[in-house]
Amino acid sequence: MSGPLAGREVLLVVGGGIAAYKSVTLARELLRAGAKVETILTDAAQKFVGGVTFAGLTGRAARNELWDASYSGELHVELASRASIIVVAPATADLMARAANGIANDLATATLLCAKSSIVYAPAMHPRMWEHPATRENVARLVARGARLVGPVIGPLASGEVGVGRMEEPEVIARRVVELASSARDLEGVRVLVTAGPTHEAIDPVRFIGNRSSGKMGLAIADAAVERGATVTVVHGPITARASHHESITRVAVRSALEMQAEVAARSEDSDVIVMAAAVADYRPDVVATHKIKKGQDRLVLELVKNPDILAGLGAWRGANKRPVLVGFAVETGDLVGYARSKLSRKGCDMVVANLAEHGFEGDDNTVTIVTRETAEEISRRPKREIADRILDAARTFLDSSQSRG
Ligand code: CTP
Repeated sequence: MSGPLAGREVLLVVGGGIAAYKSVTLARELLRAGAKVETILTDAAQKFVGGVTFAGLTGRAARNELWDASYSGELHVELASRASIIVVAPATADLMARAANGIANDLATATLLCAKSSIVYAPAMHPRMWEHPATRENVARLVARGARLVGPVIGPLASGEVGVGRMEEPEVIARRVVELASSARDLEGVRVLVTAGPTHEAIDPVRFIGNRSSGKMGLAIADAAVERGATVTVVHGPITARASHHESITRVAVRSALEMQAEVAARSEDSDVIVMAAAVADYRPDVVATHKIKKGQDRLVLELVKNPDILAGLGAWRGANKRPVLVGFAVETGDLVGYARSKLSRKGCDMVVANLAEHGFEGDDNTVTIVTRETAEEISRRPKREIADRILDAARTFLDSSQSRG
């Protein structure tokens, strides 16, 4: 079987939730990608789906019993050692709670406790369970031990309500498994500083000038970098996007461009790569009113002054030694590559990630062109997380060349 997972052993652990039916599609996607798939169903999962379905698809009996009489060895140890990746989908609150606490009272959790390979959890539960501090703690513990999460996503739930708790689609989970199988921890020891989100430039104590940046692209880059072994700091403006699950990311919240500039400057010396994904406001009100401006006259004129260009400042500061590697972003309405190249030289950075204004802001997907002095690579309609990996791949090549020079 060919495909990105050719020859890889993937263990699919199916928990007990209505989303278990989607795990049948997930098994098929993993098989399509070339994997050999082994399935464990928890007792609760068996109430939703049958082992026969998985056995028919995978060609291997679905497992459930910890002490399988037909098996002479220790099944959980064997399954854990054989798997190169383990996917838990749906990962119920209960299954994650047991895994987080090292409880091993069935085949699924005993196998997870023996696992040496990467584990991907695809949570699915009611939003109140997902938001509960107990679940938050359990998830944080699993992630701190190296587990990956995919989802949950917002959507209609079995109960008819809408909220965060729906299992990610099987195709997306399978893609994450493929990414994980191919990604190395190739940024170990690299210090990455990412800026994300908009800046808010105060007009008076209650009003500001801002923009629609969601911060998702920057956060996706931060997540990807930390998963690849980097030490990551995010300096972000006011964002509502769900924060990353990675406890190890240092987060610094700012409001204005001037605050962002100060926080970035304080860390630039200690960074190997700086990714300016923030949508920094180009202008700020010259004078910030100390009291709320009252409506009066029919026309109100605000005088704006230019904000410092943080990226250009970094480009000028780092000079000829090209350290840290500098990545800029550009939103354009046409001639992407042309404008990106001029931004590249004007701001003295190594690459510019350019996208058209109609793409990119609030969504989870994006279409970008990664522009360097010599190359322009278009990546169309991919999840921001995948684009993040491609940006880091490109940044790493500059890191390697600046390392070999210095
Ligand atoms: N940027 C910055 N400081 C600013 C403005 C922008 O560091 N005051 C960074 C952004 O984080 C992003 C890139 O520069 O990486 C985007 O620049 P953009 O605002 O598009 O560039 P301009 O040179 O202002 O181009 P335009 O003429 O298109 O506005």
